[in-house]
Amino acid sequence: MHIFPTPRADSVTDLPAWHPWRVNLADSAFLRACRRQPVPHTPVWYMRQAGRSLPEYMKAREGVPMLTACETPDMVVEITLQPVRRYGVDAAIFFSDIVVPLKAIGVDLDIKPGVGPVVADPIRDARGIDALRPLEPGDVPYVTEAVRALVGELGGTPLIGFAGAPFTLGSYLIEGGPSKNHDRTKAMMYGEPALWHALMERLTDIVLEHLRVQVAAGASAVQLFDSWVGAVAPDDYREFILPHTRRIFEGVEGVPRIHFGVGTGELLGLLGEAGADVVGVDWRVPLDEAARRVGPGKALQGNLDPAVLLAPWEVVERKAREVLRRGREAEGHVFNLGHGVLPSTDPDQLKRLTDLVHEAH
Ligand code: CP3
Repeated sequence: MHIFPTPRADSVTDLPAWHPWRVNLADSAFLRACRRQPVPHTPVWYMRQAGRSLPEYMKAREGVPMLTACETPDMVVEITLQPVRRYGVDAAIFFSDIVVPLKAIGVDLDIKPGVGPVVADPIRDARGIDALRPLEPGDVPYVTEAVRALVGELGGTPLIGFAGAPFTLGSYLIEGGPSKNHDRTKAMMYGEPALWHALMERLTDIVLEHLRVQVAAGASAVQLFDSWVGAVAPDDYREFILPHTRRIFEGVEGVPRIHFGVGTGELLGLLGEAGADVVGVDWRVPLDEAARRVGPGKALQGNLDPAVLLAPWEVVERKAREVLRRGREAEGHVFNLGHGVLPSTDPDQLKRLTDLVHEAH
């Protein structure tokens, strides 16, 4: 039996010619689009492609709390593969959650169904920040194990590792749970900037290590989810957030880096400036306009409104073709939704959409 070394996307050319990875992975449409190289078809994957919209996911998760599932490699592997099998998407996203590394360093939190992450002891002062110790690879052995197993199972389909960005994680930690306006978060940002930057520093170290663990285990790309950063004005993003996200992108080398947030129309240029190779765009800004805002040297990912999938197929088709048409204005385009798949989405619509993107010219 051959034991194949686990390659990183950029190291496949160092592998022997007979190695199966050498042929497939680096040439995948997804990685090529991220690098702004010509592609045989527009690659497509979906945020939250694994999740409550899939009956097989509901079955696998029966009676198992979300965070327990994330810490169980067999479940992570199975759930990550489910949408790849069903849709034939061009990339898998590691099944986990942005709060997993925080729980791994001892933060008392849970994911409440229908609510999201809830933190028992919200961070409001220096004492709370000091408790955020650095993450070590040994804190997340189940992540390493599951990524390695997935890379073996996926063959030429790239695996995307991910983490939450410091602002979005900070918001959960400060507010204690999901928040509409991020009031307390901004209160710390504006009112106690030294404390704020100390918190962002700690979170940056944790996020960086968490991404490195996934890349070291074989993830071919990473996505940084700054889902709620659209709440911040551009000048404030530059002052309070960009230095930290920049350090994350500078610290992850050798794989394409995707940067995503919701409601970031006014921030798109800055999200690119922070150092990502690919900027994720929600449905509010058309991709041709997003390409202008982001500027040269970046690929784009997006941006069909996930709610469109709840409409009849004819509407989905028209809107998807429009996304593809405008996406041609970008130097590289990875088709995706503008945010995660809604739980009420009919999986058959996603299957048809995947086929449409693959067959479109
Ligand atoms: O995209 C994928 O398929 C990979 C899996 C993934 C999950 N969470 C699984 C999950 C990813 C990439 C995330 C990231 C995440 N988690 C983000 C950033 C992405 C985004 O949506 O903006 C955020 C903000 C969170 C925090 C979080 N965790 C929320 C808001 C929720 C939903 C709460 C709910 O029940 O509506 C979760 C839980 C969660 N994470 C679920 C899944 C599949 C639902 C758990 C369940 O099945 O009950």
